[in-house]
Amino acid sequence: MWLLPRSTPISAAEFEQLRAGARLLERDGRGEKVLLTPDKHIIKLFYPRRRITSARIYPYAYRFWNNARQLREKGIISISCEQLRYDRQNGRHLITYPLLPGTTLRDRLAGVSNGDGYLDKLATYLVTLHANGILFRSIHMGNILVLENSDYGLIDVADMTIRQWPLGLVKRARNFRHLLHDRRDRERLEKYGYDRLLDNYETAAGISGYRRTLLRKLIRHYAPAMTL
Ligand SMILES: Nc1ncnc2c1ncn2[C@@H]1O[C@H](COP(=O)(O)OP(=O)(O)OP(=O)(O)O)[C@@H](O)[C@H]1O
Ligand SMILES: [Mg+2]
Repeated sequence: MWLLPRSTPISAAEFEQLRAGARLLERDGRGEKVLLTPDKHIIKLFYPRRRITSARIYPYAYRFWNNARQLREKGIISISCEQLRYDRQNGRHLITYPLLPGTTLRDRLAGVSNGDGYLDKLATYLVTLHANGILFRSIHMGNILVLENSDYGLIDVADMTIRQWPLGLVKRARNFRHLLHDRRDRERLEKYGYDRLLDNYETAAGISGYRRTLLRKLIRHYAPAMTL
């Protein structure tokens, strides 16, 4: 989706006002990344990429904005972006959105003795995303929110492609590799059982017979840890 939203400039003084009293949630080598304001809004900061990539032409803030909108159009719970601003002085964009009340799936799993129900649900959630043509490359458990009514929602939605048709088997298999990116998530899923996750996924997606055999082959190729 190459429809670019409009970003408006933000001055240093305005930024100070916007972030007054905010708590820092995430930072990295380039600086602050995620702030939480006292009125429960998130300010997410996007820094320019050093290497020359497509991010120069289609910056991550714009992708984030467009993806969040398209997800909601498809009925997938995600962020409702409010402001897209450009901080010229620091060469970075920022997006603001109301906090979705919930905890990340990773934190939720860390706080329960048996999280199997959450992982059963993860399989069907993946089916929903894939059936809706959504390939979310940052699909780790820190980017899935468990909301107060136990629905799942997505945050950190910059790195994603969204199509009008369901994902093919290759993309599905690649998405399982993305799911294994974080060590904590791998440990959690290994304990639960990769086979159990895949069985649940295939049943919910209606993938059987030769398509199931092919998917397993692809997963062995793209996410070998799942089939060891
Ligand atoms: N809408 C939201 N509702 C609730 N919590 C949120 C929301 N957005 C962000 N957070 C919290 O802020 C943290 C970081 O947000 P996000 O994943 O967008 O940033 P990030 O820069 O990608 O961090 P990381 O690289 O660690 O994934 C999340 O793990 C979550 O705890
Ligand atoms: Mg994240």
